[in-house]
Amino acid sequence: MKRLKQHAIWGRGSFILAAMGSAVGLGNIWKFPYITGQNGGAAFVLLYLVCVLLVGIPIMMAEIMIGRKGRANPVDAVANLSAEAGLTRLWAIIGWMGVLAGFLILSYYTVIAGWTLDYFVSALQGKFAGLNGESSNKLFNELLANKSRLVQWHTVFMALTALVLMFGVNRGLESVIRWIMPCLFVLLFVLLGYAYTTGEMATSMRFMFSFNWQDLSWNSALIALGHACFTLSLGMGAIMAYGAYMPSTAAIGKTVIIVALLDVLVGLLAGISIFSFVFATPGIEPGTGLGLMFVTLPVAFGSMPMGALVGIAFFLMVILAAWGSTMSLLEPAVAYLSEHFGFHRISACLMVAGSAWILGLGSVLSFNQWADQQILWGMNFYSCLDFFTTNLLLPTGGLLTAIYAGWVLKKELLDHEMQQDHPRLLAVWRWLLRYVSPVAVLAIIVNLFYPIATRFVAE
Ligand code: PHE
Repeated sequence: MKRLKQHAIWGRGSFILAAMGSAVGLGNIWKFPYITGQNGGAAFVLLYLVCVLLVGIPIMMAEIMIGRKGRANPVDAVANLSAEAGLTRLWAIIGWMGVLAGFLILSYYTVIAGWTLDYFVSALQGKFAGLNGESSNKLFNELLANKSRLVQWHTVFMALTALVLMFGVNRGLESVIRWIMPCLFVLLFVLLGYAYTTGEMATSMRFMFSFNWQDLSWNSALIALGHACFTLSLGMGAIMAYGAYMPSTAAIGKTVIIVALLDVLVGLLAGISIFSFVFATPGIEPGTGLGLMFVTLPVAFGSMPMGALVGIAFFLMVILAAWGSTMSLLEPAVAYLSEHFGFHRISACLMVAGSAWILGLGSVLSFNQWADQQILWGMNFYSCLDFFTTNLLLPTGGLLTAIYAGWVLKKELLDHEMQQDHPRLLAVWRWLLRYVSPVAVLAIIVNLFYPIATRFVAE
């Protein structure tokens, strides 16, 4: 049985910060605000909260419980736990899928996070001044077309991530996360304060929060569900790996509720600020997706009073958010290599980050040379990787985790590991894990693959 050798344990409060570092990422800042605006505003926020409560929180609790009880990297944690419970070690596939998903996501996440470094430097150089929609679009396309610049920033982001983890869990990860999370919150509140002065906060809140029930569809429910899992970093080993370092005295349920609610709050506050900037700038529309962050917002920063400073603060905040996420994507594989095969942490970091870097080159090329190179169902390399991980590996990982913790492991084992939480909370948790989470996650998978399957059959 492989247990943690040095048995690194987080200091007080660090687990919450680290889990938040993982959860708060690009998803909160560029994805959540616009899916909210598009899918019925406040009605969607409510639905999203329900998904977080009924599906996200239970699965997150299960992941942490498995990591902490197994006291090892995701693969060995599940293997240890299964051995202890007299189950087949095949269940370790959950850990395997998590490590793989984390690794694959890392390879392209640092490419996109690299863009934020480039934009941060542009903000410092005052390049946003006087931009309009067209010139901003041109700036973004120039970046995407410039392979060496993309590789350079991808390298910097990967190196920053690996560097922290080389110092280990306590001296590296924990000490850095204890700095970046408070800074991220300060920046978020500075941006929110500035957004208030634009005078458009009310419009922004109306855009995000007016109840538009007619825009709410079944599809919105699935979007809410998918995003609830993605934003809480579920199904990719990250939270399980972090759980292995959680002190045994901490109450898992209570901690998870705090992390999940703060994560939702960051998405809401980021959205309110972003749309205040957008509405305060004449001639631009809220826009969608990556374009919102890299095309629309720079125009706003280029024309608002003190916009240059706001732009610097904004991109710095995004960099910190992404950095917290990339560390949690790298940790599962690094912990696995160092604990299971006995590699030194530094070598493990170099091996995993190096391979993810090489794979990331494929994503770099997907934004220029290989953009039209279809690999599967009309998707290029990057889109395939994104689709395969976010839509297949993550939900399947979440589904298996729910089944494993809800149906396969014995109730006494769960109760023992979760004894710091209130028995009533535990009863609700187990019920949700057994009956609600698996069905909901299955619905996401079927919804995504049904249209593809029918198209395939029709062809
Ligand atoms: N939770 C992160 C976000 O919202 C995304 C993420 C995915 C982070 C996978 C880590 C692992 O952006």
